[in-house]
Amino acid sequence: MCGAGTMWRFSKLRLLCRAPRCMGRVAYGGKVRGPQLLTTPIFYVNAAPHLGHVYSALMADVRHRHAALCGRDSRLSTGTDEHGIKVQQAATAVNLDPSDFCTTVSQQFRTMFDTMAISYTDFVRTTEFRHAQAVCHFWKKLEEKGYIYKGTYQGWYCTSDEAFLSEDQTVESRDAENKKIRVSADSGHQVHWMSEENYMFRLSQLRPKLLDWLQTEPIHPAPFLRIVRQWLEDELPDLSVSRQRNRVSWGIPVPSDPSHTIYVWLDALINYLTVAGYPDQNLAPWGPSTHLLGKDILRFHAIYWPAFLLAADLPPPKKLLVHSHWTSNGVKMSKSLQNVVDPTECIKQYTRDGLRYFLLRHGSPERDCDFTHHTVRKLLNSELADALGGLLNRCTARTINPGQCWPYYQCKSVPSAAHDELQRLLGAVKELTRQVDQYMERFQANKALEAIDSCVRCSNAFFQSQAPWKLFKGGEEDKAWGQSVLYLTLESLRLYATLLQPAVPGLAKTILDRLGVPDVYRTLKGNHFFAATLGEKCYFQGQTLGSECGLLYQRLEVDKE
Ligand code: MSP
Repeated sequence: MCGAGTMWRFSKLRLLCRAPRCMGRVAYGGKVRGPQLLTTPIFYVNAAPHLGHVYSALMADVRHRHAALCGRDSRLSTGTDEHGIKVQQAATAVNLDPSDFCTTVSQQFRTMFDTMAISYTDFVRTTEFRHAQAVCHFWKKLEEKGYIYKGTYQGWYCTSDEAFLSEDQTVESRDAENKKIRVSADSGHQVHWMSEENYMFRLSQLRPKLLDWLQTEPIHPAPFLRIVRQWLEDELPDLSVSRQRNRVSWGIPVPSDPSHTIYVWLDALINYLTVAGYPDQNLAPWGPSTHLLGKDILRFHAIYWPAFLLAADLPPPKKLLVHSHWTSNGVKMSKSLQNVVDPTECIKQYTRDGLRYFLLRHGSPERDCDFTHHTVRKLLNSELADALGGLLNRCTARTINPGQCWPYYQCKSVPSAAHDELQRLLGAVKELTRQVDQYMERFQANKALEAIDSCVRCSNAFFQSQAPWKLFKGGEEDKAWGQSVLYLTLESLRLYATLLQPAVPGLAKTILDRLGVPDVYRTLKGNHFFAATLGEKCYFQGQTLGSECGLLYQRLEVDKE
């Protein structure tokens, strides 16, 4: 099945595997620390990207962008998972050479992620030479450490999930023709009995080390940590890590025995090492890694991956951030069920930032979410068009702000009747940055956006109740307070737009441009908000606003449900 190019790559690879490269000056083992590596899962190329895939990538992107906003060093990798029977079969079904097929679909993912502004710093394909090199090196390490042996694997195999399953991970079911079949209890995909001589990995020996690793509470949100703890209550069976090449030819051959192909999940997980420069640790050492993943692939990341790393004497992941699924009418969106939502169609209807906002705000790591266009429209109208767009209009409108300037805040101007409301607003906004940071740290982008939206509403209510347009018609004291209200509103909007950049980079830019905020004031590092309310100097007072931008977000038509 391999194309000529691929054969060449693999034979060259075998040569390299016989003479492994120098490991560099510093030993692996946790002490060497590079920048934080954040990863998305790598995506199967058996089908085009759908909304669930975009969500996985987006959740990683928002965290990566937030880290950058706070001045932290972060890298984000993504890519495509191109080997295995599933992809081999998908290529055969459309009469394409697997290599060409993979290139086409991989490019679709890359284009989709570019369209969605996923700010990856590396895009890895498992058919790349650098990856095959990392896989072969890693395999040899596992062999050297005595973790690989030859044995006979007998059990169920699920091609859709590319997973070996024990008897109790499967259940009986019926196919479309009502014939009895066995399926994976987790995914519902059909499994087949398999009996084959394979290379096996001594997973059973790593249970104590995995339990130690779990003590560091590396899995978030907590319910997923509990699930993994439960899995580890039982003994772990050893894991088959190769398939005979006459059955699975589309993959990386076992370096010492090319009649076997390395198990696609071992191959795929090593992508995280590939992007860290492995095996050449001088490129970028394998340091603390944060992997983002959907709950369907928890076992692979929470048991197999740390076990592989520990077996090779490498530090296990620092964090696994797990999210739940998008469903269509309550059923997980997946290509095989033909119930997927097309992200391109959504972008056309809602814009890129509209879709980003909805997925991040409405999706949740802890629970599955149903996707309906009605919910999208209602949410975007309420939070982007009305609340955020309304706030921008209010404080920048020429009728209210004919000079198009940031006014001066005057501490003495606060009337006693407005005191409590002002304190409530300041209390809320002053907490916001810390809250958003905490939510992002806990992998709760939805809660971070909820907190921002709630403050946006607070600012709108404050503006409405203080009614600066009336104050400007009054005496000197009223006018001074009117200016202060306008300053407070502009300053709160500057804060919200700054914090919204990771989620909706385009809309946030529109707001910051309109407010005339220079680039140096668009990060959180060293950026102060509401300084004038403390009697301190505020750069913005007296500055002119940027040019007009029209409506921030066009209201969408909402059908009756
Ligand atoms: N190739 C493996 C991952 C290997 S990582 C070393 C894989 N690929 S996948 O394309 O099937 O899934 C990639 C990501 O998309 C996973 O995090 C998965 O949870 C996510 N999603 C796929 N369908 C989804 C939904 N319906 N909803 C949310 N995310 C879902 O698994």
